[in-house]
Amino acid sequence: MTQSIAPRADRIRRLLEHLRNETTDEFADVQTFDTKRYVDPEIAARERERVFGRVPSIVAHGSEVPRPGDFITLRLPNNNVIIVRQSDGSVKALVNMCRHRGALIEKEEKGRCRIFSCGYHRWSYDTDGTLRTITRDNTFGDIDRSVQGLVELPCEERAGFIWVVDDASGEIDVTSWLGPEMDGILEGYELDKLITFRAEGFDEPVNWKIMQDAFLDGYHVQYAHPNTAAKHIHTNVMVVEDFGQHARFIAPRKTIDKWLEEDPGDRDLSKNITESHYLGPNSTLLRQPDHFQLLTFRPHPKDPGRCRMEMRLMVPTLEDSGLSEEKWNHNWEKNWKILLAVLHEEDFPLLRGAQSAVESTNSGSLLLGRNEVINQIFHRELAKLLA
Ligand code: FES
Ligand SMILES: [Fe+2]
Repeated sequence: MTQSIAPRADRIRRLLEHLRNETTDEFADVQTFDTKRYVDPEIAARERERVFGRVPSIVAHGSEVPRPGDFITLRLPNNNVIIVRQSDGSVKALVNMCRHRGALIEKEEKGRCRIFSCGYHRWSYDTDGTLRTITRDNTFGDIDRSVQGLVELPCEERAGFIWVVDDASGEIDVTSWLGPEMDGILEGYELDKLITFRAEGFDEPVNWKIMQDAFLDGYHVQYAHPNTAAKHIHTNVMVVEDFGQHARFIAPRKTIDKWLEEDPGDRDLSKNITESHYLGPNSTLLRQPDHFQLLTFRPHPKDPGRCRMEMRLMVPTLEDSGLSEEKWNHNWEKNWKILLAVLHEEDFPLLRGAQSAVESTNSGSLLLGRNEVINQIFHRELAKLLA
């Protein structure tokens, strides 16, 4: 069902039709699957190798490391990494490990530095990873320094985000991974002009796919979020553009209801919908009228029953917003708190429960319905990568 980009007005018209008829876009068929995908260490190892070790995934927004020497550290499925801005403006991903005897070279979650200096025997590296000093080198012995730099992972900045392939022997080409449709869509959003207001990670005792699935799901809104999201968004009504490895989907806000009886004509109804994107392999990007929200789900390096979710809010800069600093902060702070409350009080308890349930020995098989189109796309693409 791969399709080309449809104008938003056409998609919104289709959405209204669905709402009137109590229908939604549908996938070709119902899928049956095994709970093994959430608990099996072998499947998890294959995902680390064939998914995260081969295709680019988003690790940060460029504004999180704005100046040369700015860095963040994170644990990817295969590697502990340092993401660091270079003096030429590019970004590198370096394995966070000293090449002498393996100490963790950077312990801070974020910061700014001129060199990375090891706490164990004080070797130091330039921010591009080059080995710079070996302490007491007259006694250490001759080595080829050029091959003892910090190990570099394929890394690229594109569409405002920093992408990494989590394997040093891999290659990165974000444009071709995104494909012409999604690359064009992201380019059009000018995400590089925004800044991250806040980014936070949550270590959850849940398989990353259970988490990712919940944030591609338009079917649970009314049942899991009756007093929050469901007050504003319709349940189980979606128009999907399937781009293969990625997808875009819209759902109606309740403010659209006044157009159920009446033809909206040429009116712009974009404020009456939510627009979301599945960015393979492990992110959901939500486009709001005045900001974006990115959700990323990363498997734990060893345990299939754990993952790290990251949430970040990308917003117009203070200068571009035209707001006072106080108003700007207050506005986004409030937004952030609402998002956190829904996560912690509504989604996480449900998903932790799901993980403990699928760990049952006799769990039987599970289903994805035709209405769960984006989830179907997510699992279809994952299966292709794993095959
Ligand atoms: S382990 Fe880093 S200097 Fe020895
Ligand atoms: Fe939810």
